[in-house]
Amino acid sequence: MDTQNVYILAIESSCDDTAAAILKNDVVLANVVATQKIHEEYGGVVPELASRAHQQHIVPVVDQALKKAGITKEQLHGIAFTKGPGLMGSLLVGVSFAKSLAMSLNIPLLDVDHMQGHLLAHFIDGASIQKPTFPFLGITISGGHTQIVKITDHFEMEVIGQTIDDAIGEAFDKSAKTLGLPYPGGPLIDKYAQLGNPKAFVFSKPRVADLNFSFSGFKTAVLYFVQKQTKENPNFVQENLYDICASIQYSLTEIILDKVKKAVKQTGITTIAIGGGVSANSGIRNMLLSAEKKYNWQVHIPKFEYTTDNAAMIGIVGYFKYLKKEYADLSITASARTKF
Ligand code: KG4
Ligand code: ZN
Repeated sequence: MDTQNVYILAIESSCDDTAAAILKNDVVLANVVATQKIHEEYGGVVPELASRAHQQHIVPVVDQALKKAGITKEQLHGIAFTKGPGLMGSLLVGVSFAKSLAMSLNIPLLDVDHMQGHLLAHFIDGASIQKPTFPFLGITISGGHTQIVKITDHFEMEVIGQTIDDAIGEAFDKSAKTLGLPYPGGPLIDKYAQLGNPKAFVFSKPRVADLNFSFSGFKTAVLYFVQKQTKENPNFVQENLYDICASIQYSLTEIILDKVKKAVKQTGITTIAIGGGVSANSGIRNMLLSAEKKYNWQVHIPKFEYTTDNAAMIGIVGYFKYLKKEYADLSITASARTKF
């Protein structure tokens, strides 16, 4: 067996993407994601269908990852999987698969927190990128989460702010739905926003204490706004789509900026690393890059393929755990809610 290099197979199945990655130490050799199209028809993820699709995808996705990486399963040193948080039926597919493969190959099983994965994605391919230095503020913005996390070490993390209701991704997706856009609408809002005027319409910001967020009022505000305008002009959305998208994106971006500024002030930490599906948003990326210059922050934005759900981010946490010999017991199971 190769003693210099550690090969990890990582599996991510917490929501509606079945993903497998192979890492050689902290370097990604393969990163395969099978996105489930079935949910588009329903305007959101249907848990039962997600679980069934994971069962269909998992073997081909793992197989493809091994082929792409050019290794055999016998060369693996460990198997990392997402323990949670996520949809129970979806997580269970990944856990069961990881467990049985680890057992049959007689190699360590490594349980990974999905949120920790989003945050440590910044350490993938460490030699070829500028990694964040500790301590840093991790901003996880996705379809399921909105968090500000103080990170003092790979495994020392403290959530210092989070949403009290919806995640920012839901604010994007539900606003998009109100505009008649297909699910998930976040990327489409981003696309159309680039063609519109961000100051065309004003959506009021939620008032939430400390470093916490709230987005449920935002989506309702968009809904009422669109209903009112459509009553006056039935073609309002079609005629103003780009401006509405730009204004929604601008408001959501400002909400994030306000809280990041507050977090920097409170902690004195100026290194910021964003992660999660919504960190693919061009408005948020540009806002952080201008703030970096303006406030002298150090901003880290992950590579596009490591922002939305992927298994490479699970693999990097698995690799760090492997080095620390923090193996999971075979009795481990998934948990829909996790805390780190
Ligand atoms: O991290 P992720 O893939 O899954 C979760 O763990 O939730 O995030 C998915 C979310 C969806 O809400 C999707 O609309 C949003 O990320 N998203 C975006 C963009 N790309 C993905 N939202 C705004 N702009 C984007 N470019
Ligand atoms: Zn995620």
